[in-house]
Amino acid sequence: MSSSTLILSILFAVVLIGLPFPSSATNLHVINFRSPGLYPEGLTWDPSEQHFIVGSLHSRTIHSVSDAGVVHSLITDLELPENATILGLAVDSTNRRLFATIHCLPPLLPFSALAAYDLRSGGRRIFLSNLPSLPGDDQEITRDVANDVAIDYNGNAYVTNSAKNFIWKVNRDGVATIFSRSPLFNSQPVAEDADETFRDCGLNGILYNSKGYLLVVQSNTGKMFKVDEDSGTARLVLLNGDLVAADGMARRRRDGTVVVVSQKKLWLLKSQDSWSEGVIYDEIELDVEGFPTAVTVAGQDRVYVLYGRVMEGIRGSYKDGEVREWFGIEEVSSEKENGEDKIWVYVLIGLGFAYFCFWRFQMKRLITNMDKKTS
Ligand SMILES: *[C@@H]1O[C@H](CO)[C@@H](O)[C@H](O)[C@H]1NC(C)=O
Repeated sequence: MSSSTLILSILFAVVLIGLPFPSSATNLHVINFRSPGLYPEGLTWDPSEQHFIVGSLHSRTIHSVSDAGVVHSLITDLELPENATILGLAVDSTNRRLFATIHCLPPLLPFSALAAYDLRSGGRRIFLSNLPSLPGDDQEITRDVANDVAIDYNGNAYVTNSAKNFIWKVNRDGVATIFSRSPLFNSQPVAEDADETFRDCGLNGILYNSKGYLLVVQSNTGKMFKVDEDSGTARLVLLNGDLVAADGMARRRRDGTVVVVSQKKLWLLKSQDSWSEGVIYDEIELDVEGFPTAVTVAGQDRVYVLYGRVMEGIRGSYKDGEVREWFGIEEVSSEKENGEDKIWVYVLIGLGFAYFCFWRFQMKRLITNMDKKTS
């Protein structure tokens, strides 16, 4: 073996050994961040600032969390009702606005609103819009629950009402109306295994698609709906399974994959026909203890879930009266997709190797020919 062949063989071996063999799960990005008593429910990603944004259970604050887990306070809004909860979060990148749904849990007085903050001016509040109840609806009996929010490209916000199964729209000036009250939202059976944590929770995660519709998931039925952005009419998305206890959702830009999180797992879904039908092509078990509630797509289309332990915060069930200080944001990735990627890597390497062999064969012939000529 000549020295150059030896070097190439070693290089080739190094490439092979360096391949991401199965169980790349160990490379997933885990961010632990410290913020005593925060118990965040909402999570989003700000692509301009390249950081995560999380809400708070009772402190009327919104924070950024860096890749490395450094926490900064973005917004402190003491005009919100005392102990109000920040639920859904969304960034309008074009207008540099941050939207947050605000909700008051019992025993606080009923309150459901959407707040918009200007990220250019250090978080100045642009509006705080109370979200209107249905006519004649008594909030003292069952209150509205403003839960998640999505933004369209004109700066309108769409907010789900988990208690009453409808969607509000808040235009860019902060004018709030009831936008979609499709009877379909009340047509599906509640899942048999729905426990008290989500039995009364209807419409929840929502996202906007620039083709002119919204996708929204319903926790207690596990169904997904496609809602027209102009008329508010809804259609049931046909799926190969129910997304029982579905909470937050997000979309990957690269391939339009939709991810939906529940307290137990993350589902990955694809559609070929703009969500008349969709397929759940993978589901990933999550850490139930961490009580995941939100999912977002960050830089390089990486999917992250929030472990905010909200139920512990609500129940006050922390040990010895000590509030929890640490929370987590963790990357999740589909083994199935990794598997496919790996096959592509092997095919590429195989091609490279074949090409290399062919090249050596040619070189040998060339050298033999030259030897013949010179001799
Ligand atoms: C807010 O929470 C604190 C701590 O639990 C409590 O002492 C206070 O009374 C609450 N405020 C309201 C308005 O309920």
